[in-house]
Amino acid sequence: MLVSEIKDDADYIQRDLTNMLKFRDKKSITDLDLRNKRVLLRVDFNVPMDEHGNITDARRIRYTLPTIHYLLNENCRIILISHLGRPKGEVDKSMRIANIYQRLKEYCPLSNILLADDCIGSDVEKMAKKLKPRELLLLENPRFHPEEKENDEEFAKKLAKLADVYVTDAFATAHRKHASTYGVCNYLEEKGYGFLLEKEMKFISNCIAKPKRPLTVILGGKKVEDKLDVIKYLIGVADNILIGGGMAFTFLLAKGYAIGKSIKDLSKLDEVRQYIVEANESCTRIYLPRDVIVCDELDYPTKIEQVPITEIRENHVGVDIGEETIKTFKKILNESKQVIWQGPLGVFEKTEFEKGTKEIATHLVENHIYTIIGGGDSAASFEKFGFQDEVSFISTGGGASLELMKGTLLPAVECLSDK
Ligand code: 3PG
Repeated sequence: MLVSEIKDDADYIQRDLTNMLKFRDKKSITDLDLRNKRVLLRVDFNVPMDEHGNITDARRIRYTLPTIHYLLNENCRIILISHLGRPKGEVDKSMRIANIYQRLKEYCPLSNILLADDCIGSDVEKMAKKLKPRELLLLENPRFHPEEKENDEEFAKKLAKLADVYVTDAFATAHRKHASTYGVCNYLEEKGYGFLLEKEMKFISNCIAKPKRPLTVILGGKKVEDKLDVIKYLIGVADNILIGGGMAFTFLLAKGYAIGKSIKDLSKLDEVRQYIVEANESCTRIYLPRDVIVCDELDYPTKIEQVPITEIRENHVGVDIGEETIKTFKKILNESKQVIWQGPLGVFEKTEFEKGTKEIATHLVENHIYTIIGGGDSAASFEKFGFQDEVSFISTGGGASLELMKGTLLPAVECLSDK
């Protein structure tokens, strides 16, 4: 029996519609008086990079270009701010925004783009003040300051000091209540959303307000914590939840399987156990891998093998789903009318561990199964396999789209000016 046949999802849809109504009350970039203004533009340039610092998927940068061009046409001085990675409140060279600077210059060849070595302070204020119309200033990663994540008032005030108006196009970070995504709005009169954020909000909200059923959600990747919250919500809403990738091992461990040296989040075991029980009592079926690909060493593996989940040994590192699991997942997907996919099913960045993610992606594309992809890593996998234009919708936001699925009004939208 499908969830839709037994669950009255009016409440779910209602929450989602309320969100959309609130969103429509907010000012968009076209509602703001921007002519000649100094604009603080919050973007999400947190792009995936390989071990040499090369950008593997620049979609998050490219998709903000319509908003940047609109501001340039309005003769604005643009001050761009984005986090990159998860530095621990201090400078981390590998997460410097300079990694993004070159790519941004390639995309905006006619603009003069300056690079700041911080995001607050008197030097940055001087640079922002001196900006000429149609010039851009790219600020340093705000997460080098612990105050960013703490949504510190003084820090937010310092950011606000740099500009007259605030625009956010950072859909992928819209679920974070940080100083540059939320707090800063307390200190600027006019604030609105850009074109990327608008497109994402409208598409995802429409898709989840009335999903086509059976609805199957694929969850993978490493960030167990971010996805657990949404699993709680999906139980009773999704028809199937397929779990793979790094997070599958926390689930397997919670069910009593040995997982060797595979990635895990021990702090979440009780929560995971509770969701497994709740799902068993509901009409949502959670599917875990039956077999996995393991190796002895992730970076330089000397032995790669496929094992059933009952035979994962102490020295094994789980890196992908196995053949049997791929077969089961494909069967469920064949019967699904809508798929939401968040997080890769294995370490797809390495060719030897890409098979699970690649086969499932190929299956969805070849069978024209209606699929929405969320999250930087999932998007990067579709880009790697050359499917980026063949899937129904690729969202730039993983966590943000998960929050939308729960019916949350995203903090970075909530703090914008009402029309
Ligand atoms: C993302 O990649 O999901 C966004 O950039 C947000 O990053 P975060 O999860 O580190 O806050």
